[in-house]
Amino acid sequence: MIVKQEIEELFPTPLWVVQLGTAEAAAFNAKLKAEIEKIISPRPKVPTGSNWQTPQDLHTRPAFADFTGLVEKAARGVARYLQVEQFPMMITGCWANVNPPGTYHPTHNHPNNYLSGVYYVAVPETGSQLVFQDPRPVMIMPRIGKHSRVTANAAVSQTQPGRMVLFPSWLRHHVPANDGTTERISISFNLMFTNFAETLAQPSWKPTAGGNQEATSPNASASSS
Ligand SMILES: [Fe+2]
Repeated sequence: MIVKQEIEELFPTPLWVVQLGTAEAAAFNAKLKAEIEKIISPRPKVPTGSNWQTPQDLHTRPAFADFTGLVEKAARGVARYLQVEQFPMMITGCWANVNPPGTYHPTHNHPNNYLSGVYYVAVPETGSQLVFQDPRPVMIMPRIGKHSRVTANAAVSQTQPGRMVLFPSWLRHHVPANDGTTERISISFNLMFTNFAETLAQPSWKPTAGGNQEATSPNASASSS
């Protein structure tokens, strides 16, 4: 006889969503929008379907100091959650994207970083999505009417001004075409451990007395079985 049937979630992929208050976001975004416009002005002509991007050094510019502070605060929260706060992280790149109607970002991830994220300065009236792909290979995908978070092979994150989303840099994602009538403005960023080679990259196993390597054991978390 079955006495109970439970579900355990293995290897969940976290997405951290940080939301500013509406009034605060409006003022903050107006400032950010003006600074971004200054950088890309006069806007060079780009091919139809392309977008404008700033240089990737916004985190080093005084005009973006408040934004950098926000990213660092959010990243500290993530590090606390993951219990890696003893290893300092730094922003390695930060840039703004201005997407006119009809433009999109194809599928990609952010190599050589630990965390990545995006903050929304302006979003079209019709809304805008950020779509994440399931990193696991899909072998069987039954044609069911409605996929759940357990059976779907993609997950949609809705965007809105004043929202920041942080995710593991390896997680592939894309931005569907802007089907609104106004520009979509976002600021993307990457973070990596500042002293990765010094503090994290060394082998985690100990050599045996005879010089043979001990097998590396997986970093298993506690399991009930
Ligand atoms: Fe991205």
